[in-house]
Amino acid sequence: MEIKLLVSPAASVQTALLTVFAVDASTSKAKDAVPEIRLLTSDDVPQRAAQAILEGGEFRAESGETLLLHNPDGLSAKRLLLIGLGKASKLTPHEVRKAAGTSIRFARPRNLREQAIAVPEHSQLPLQLTARALAEGAVIADFDSDTYRSDRKDRSIQSLQVVAAPSLDRAAVEAALHEGEIVAEAQNFARALINEPGNRLTPTVFGERAAASCRQFGISCEVHSTDKLRELQMGAFLSVAQGSDEPPALIVMRYEPEDAPASPVLGLVGKGITFDTGGISIKPADNMEKMKYDMAGGASMIAAMRAIAQLRPRVRVIGIVCATENMPSGKAQKPGDVQIAMPAAADRPGKSIEIINTDAEGRLVLADGITYAKQLGATHLIDAATLTGAVGVALGQINAGVFSNDDDAYRHFTDALKISGERFWRLPAEDDYRELIRSQIADIKNTGGRYGGATTAAMFLKEFAEDTPWIHLDIAGTAWQDDAKPWSASGPTGVAVRSIIEWIRSFAA
Ligand code: BES
Ligand code: MN
Ligand code: ZN
Repeated sequence: MEIKLLVSPAASVQTALLTVFAVDASTSKAKDAVPEIRLLTSDDVPQRAAQAILEGGEFRAESGETLLLHNPDGLSAKRLLLIGLGKASKLTPHEVRKAAGTSIRFARPRNLREQAIAVPEHSQLPLQLTARALAEGAVIADFDSDTYRSDRKDRSIQSLQVVAAPSLDRAAVEAALHEGEIVAEAQNFARALINEPGNRLTPTVFGERAAASCRQFGISCEVHSTDKLRELQMGAFLSVAQGSDEPPALIVMRYEPEDAPASPVLGLVGKGITFDTGGISIKPADNMEKMKYDMAGGASMIAAMRAIAQLRPRVRVIGIVCATENMPSGKAQKPGDVQIAMPAAADRPGKSIEIINTDAEGRLVLADGITYAKQLGATHLIDAATLTGAVGVALGQINAGVFSNDDDAYRHFTDALKISGERFWRLPAEDDYRELIRSQIADIKNTGGRYGGATTAAMFLKEFAEDTPWIHLDIAGTAWQDDAKPWSASGPTGVAVRSIIEWIRSFAA
């Protein structure tokens, strides 16, 4: 999709489809109150073209509601699409992100390959965040997950004209659109990786795709395998990999601009299980095919590095992805086995781990990834993982889980959420939960029993983050959507990518 800025009154845009957003500006709370529909453009021609229909009451500007007019009076556009943003008092840029996506996905099945969207003008919509959200929503909506269907039709939108009223700050809109494109393209890049099945995206291929992405944007990437894992004594990561015929991949990406201060160094760690059978503690067959998306956290980190390489904030970032399959085999680890994780320092032995359930493998690979990130100099950590079914039980498919050992790093994350529009809910990782992963035979065990499953998984990771400020994102419940939304396809969501990018940027000098 090519995004072009057009400075013009909305009425004179030549296009097959012009989208204008609308709000209900009435302040009455009464259920049967008559809505007061306002189109969010300073050009009053579209409002006039729609006036008769609006007075008839068939469009209430509810969030996501659409109304299509053909040959609208006084407009150069062949069609005028109104999309509701809901109550004016509740207006946010994220509402615009979804509506821009709805506009794109409205056009695609109707075989319209170009369209125009008017930048909404409203006192509650900051211009840059809004223009950026508009671009993001459009790009995210133009993704589909039917990769391997031979009857696949290319319905993508070739050109989007973003229409800014002449009174708006052109440079600000242009910069915001450019940023939005980079961020959303990165999110789609992650989605494409997550969508790949386990036979096609092995850990080795995953490493190659990461290296190619880094090469494309000029950042360094090394991909190691079993020998390096042995050298680093990554006993936890190796214990998962040992059951698979596919060699593991330790992906190490670095963004180290010369003009950035020596500190902070942000360490990103992603879970990259390219397929999770559960291992010897094997999963039931039902829905097991979904476990190809168990590398979503890792894909998010590769995608975030890709965006950062283009946005070039003045801050150092190291990205690590621990990629392997989790398979049952004659060589696989067994419940009861004891593994020794990577030592945090030469004079400190690695922590010993009693394996209770081989299906709790994500925390094992992340443990060594976290230790390695610290060894490479990370002063702040963020990890992303499809770690637990329990986070979905706790939060459903709306919010992802966020955990932290540091209120300042967490504040950076909540600031990032204000820009990304993503939904995360904080869950506890307090030391009182530590006893749930105490082991008789070893330092810790890899599961914590029936209760608080998302938190006990976080507690396991916290053992390895130690006192380094750390954020943990559990995206197991939100990384995949079974049903399409009006603004996005079914399948991989790419959740966390946008928030990780903003978290990184919030540390820039
Ligand atoms: N990859 C799974 C978590 C998961 C579940 C991701 C559902 C996406 C959807 C993870 O490796 C896992 O198996 N976790 C176990 C942990 C348990 C054994 C303590 C779980 O959640 O059941
Ligand atoms: Mn598992
Ligand atoms: Zn897993």
